[in-house]
Amino acid sequence: MEIAKVAVVGLGTMGAGIAEVFARAGIGVVAIEADVAALNRGIGLLDASLSRAVSRGRLTAAEQAEIRGRVRPAADFGELAAADLAIEVVPERMEVKRQIFAELDRACRPDAILATNTSSLSVTAIAAASEHPGRVIGMHFFNPAPVMRLVEVVSTVVSGDGVADTVSALARRLGKTPVQVSDRAGFIANALLLPYLNHAVHLLETSYATGPDIDLAATAGVGLPMGPLALLDLIGLDTALSIMEVLHGEFGLPRYAPAPLLRRLADAGRTGRKAGRGIYQYGGSPGGADPHGGNGPDAATPDSVTLIGAGDDLEEDLASAMAAAGITVTANAADPSDLVLVAADAWRPVLPASLAAGRPQDTVGLHLTGKLGAGRLAEIVQTGVSSAAAVAAGTALAGKLGFTTVRAPDRPGFLVAALLYPHLADAVRMVQDGYATAADIDTAMTLGCGYPKGPFELIDAAGAAAVLAGLAAMHEGYGYPEFAPPPLLAEHAAAGITFGAAPRPAR
Ligand code: 3HC
Repeated sequence: MEIAKVAVVGLGTMGAGIAEVFARAGIGVVAIEADVAALNRGIGLLDASLSRAVSRGRLTAAEQAEIRGRVRPAADFGELAAADLAIEVVPERMEVKRQIFAELDRACRPDAILATNTSSLSVTAIAAASEHPGRVIGMHFFNPAPVMRLVEVVSTVVSGDGVADTVSALARRLGKTPVQVSDRAGFIANALLLPYLNHAVHLLETSYATGPDIDLAATAGVGLPMGPLALLDLIGLDTALSIMEVLHGEFGLPRYAPAPLLRRLADAGRTGRKAGRGIYQYGGSPGGADPHGGNGPDAATPDSVTLIGAGDDLEEDLASAMAAAGITVTANAADPSDLVLVAADAWRPVLPASLAAGRPQDTVGLHLTGKLGAGRLAEIVQTGVSSAAAVAAGTALAGKLGFTTVRAPDRPGFLVAALLYPHLADAVRMVQDGYATAADIDTAMTLGCGYPKGPFELIDAAGAAAVLAGLAAMHEGYGYPEFAPPPLLAEHAAAGITFGAAPRPAR
């Protein structure tokens, strides 16, 4: 079936973006909202996005007019008989969705496909509101819809033959890559992404690290396009909360319990960018950006440093970089110096070396996260006895050496791995449990969330054995069951195989 005309019901951020995607692909769109004020707001979002593309030189004014001419705003369901596909993009409330599907049933032709962009609700339960559930399917776009290239095409047990293939072909015409999935909570991308975002909120609310540092760990440390807290503000904290509630309800794992701070912010209406304030503040004074503050006042770079390391390349490189920056470097803990620096390993605590050096209050760790991603990020590791002055001096020193810095407590994984490794373990468990293939998960995360490498490419780059050892250290250190290394990872480590190269188990 050729889709020539579509209806988009609901013109919030996602609906307006989806209408734009269809119109850009040459498909006529009826854009529907409940009332004229909401319709005008939605069309305003679409116009702003097209105008921005013109101002960036991505569209000509003539193309903009042509695209806009394909979109017909409507405040009722009157024109639906012409639509080959209708997609619902309204808030995540089951009773609202079911009402809309009952209306779509009445207004659309019997052969039209009815799609939902739901991010968390059961497509099967939505389909049950239709008299013809076989034509109901999930067509899940990612925010911002005009940019992100993934579409999850979600079939239910009652989906009719060929519906998923028709919608996948349509997604390709839109310039997107479809991944066909079954109707499980969170599908692929949200089931993996949201627990990671929730974990980041947990790190923030337990004061493990500051908000900006958590985001920098993901961007500068792993190379992700956005930090998890900034991404939550983009997605909307209310949307994120409802996805976490659905995941928690379906799977019951403690890791899926929504972080209390996520719930509080959503309850307070601090839902993210769309509200002007979420975890960060938008368009206001920069001072209000992070409820947990920044890194404190800048300190002077120390003139002299005692460097304690393992006698490896890292220690040598640091010593020569400091010498080149005019800093006196000593290796003897008894020599006087402004700062004692331990060249740290993410899986060995800094404290024993710091105590052995005899000046634990003057000591911090420095850990470089180069192996995992983009690279030049230094974690300044603060032990339970490091003074604030030592932490500030260590931060200033790493800045002078050209590193971006974050601060982390002296706990297994410090900050980057503490954030990333449980996410990698979740990805392995999804494959282990037959939820999705490693290839589909990597496609979902690269095209849906802009990861430069999928979770399995990251594991293969670091080595399954290294990720396994890290998770084991986190599991031992924290005792949380979700940090337990999945058996499938242990098997890959033992066999010395990568996920990319691993033969698919027969199912
Ligand atoms: N609408 C349309 N276009 C947009 C846009 C928007 N809201 N935001 C950015 N863009 C375009 C820009 O115009 C620019 O286009 P150009 O290269 O043709 O000029 C391009 O995207 C890059 O934008 P910027 O240069 O302004 O900014 P960045 O390079 O920092 O990229 C980003 C912005 C694309 C949002 C990038 O940070 C990213 O990929 N972030 C990850 C987003 C993500 O993970 N999304 C998935 C969330 S989960 C989800 O949506 C599922 C749901 O169910 C919860």
